[in-house]
Amino acid sequence: MSIAPVPRIAVIVVAAGSGTRLGADAPKAFVGLDQHSILRHALDGVARVGDVQVVVVAPAGREGDALTETLAAFGDRSDLVSVVVGGATRQASVAAGLGAVWPDVEIVLVHDAARALTPPDVFARVIAEVDAGSAGAIPILPVIDTIKRVHDGRVIAGVDRAELSAAQTPQGFRRDVLDAAYRAVAGEFTDDAALVAEAGHAVAAVAGDPLAFKITTPADLARASALVAPHPSAAPSLIHAPALPRVGIGTDVHAYGGDGTLWLAGLEWPGERALSGHSDGDAVAHAIVDALLAAAGLGDIGTHFGTDRPEFAGAHADAFLARTHALLGEAGFRVGNVSVQVQANRPRFAARRAEAEAVLSAALGGAPVSVTATTTDGLGFPGRAEGVAAFAVALVY
Ligand code: CTP
Ligand code: MG
Repeated sequence: MSIAPVPRIAVIVVAAGSGTRLGADAPKAFVGLDQHSILRHALDGVARVGDVQVVVVAPAGREGDALTETLAAFGDRSDLVSVVVGGATRQASVAAGLGAVWPDVEIVLVHDAARALTPPDVFARVIAEVDAGSAGAIPILPVIDTIKRVHDGRVIAGVDRAELSAAQTPQGFRRDVLDAAYRAVAGEFTDDAALVAEAGHAVAAVAGDPLAFKITTPADLARASALVAPHPSAAPSLIHAPALPRVGIGTDVHAYGGDGTLWLAGLEWPGERALSGHSDGDAVAHAIVDALLAAAGLGDIGTHFGTDRPEFAGAHADAFLARTHALLGEAGFRVGNVSVQVQANRPRFAARRAEAEAVLSAALGGAPVSVTATTTDGLGFPGRAEGVAAFAVALVY
């Protein structure tokens, strides 16, 4: 019998609140959105994150119901789940959940069951940020309403909306940081990020999602129910729409004739003729940028890196690709893979193909990049050694 590895990520789903503001006759997590409860929808979202430990924090007396919901969501991965009883406050409930996290777990996400429709990519962005070295990371949304400071029925002052963000969950933390913060900090905090900040750690912000709204009032419940209801037409509703991957294509051509040495596919090629262009003329990088932006529906290279952006004038592939990767991340996309082909007589790629692939892949957060190269049998501008052409295809999801 093989033993599955212990996950390095745990998600604590806090569901022990009573739901006073919702005013239903059951604790909020057990109120139905459709034939399934708020808790079940939240757990279905967590189940799409991958193999993570899941600790559900339930109201006292409802542990059995919570376990039934959890097992329904996790199917044959029931070894990953457990249910504990919560406390009088959200903070006490999180503390109860933390006590059940397995010793080997390195990253803990705390998630409100009440944010039942949170898309999986919000989880992915939070995890990626903590993986990249942040002590903690929370999803945020810009504040839309104009905000006032009010005291005793009088408007005291406006508050600059640009400085404000609305915090969502899941909130993710290095496990040692969250454990220590919960041990050290006295007092009540409205969320885990505030508690961790009080313990002296910087918390990063990543893009949240409007669908991660918290079901608090009857109006929120109605909105969530409408979102999961089958669409009246045959078209799938927002929530049920399958998250299909998307592809994009990009091409670029640069002529020889630039100053200095050749930069192509993220590498410097001493002794080779340079390409001309606004930046370093790296047609391979530019084709990849267009393919990625096209796949995500985010315009093209001119939209984001036009000649009015002097900071990219002398930039190399790593800067273009890292910025493109960030743009996609902000829009909720991850890069599946990229394939790019160069048509050129020179340089000869065979000896440096792996090096080029490693540099390009690193700039895209580790997504695989394949580089192939071909000559054109002496035909066309690559064949006449006037310049190089590059063709890229990218898949994002
Ligand atoms: N929560 C919890 N334990 C508590 C209080 C809240 O686990 N003692 C959980 C809720 O179940 C919810 C999340 O924390 O998933 C966010 O809390 P909130 O939306 O305020 O839920 P309730 O406290 O249940 O609602 P209300 O404040 O309206 O009573
Ligand atoms: Mg509450």
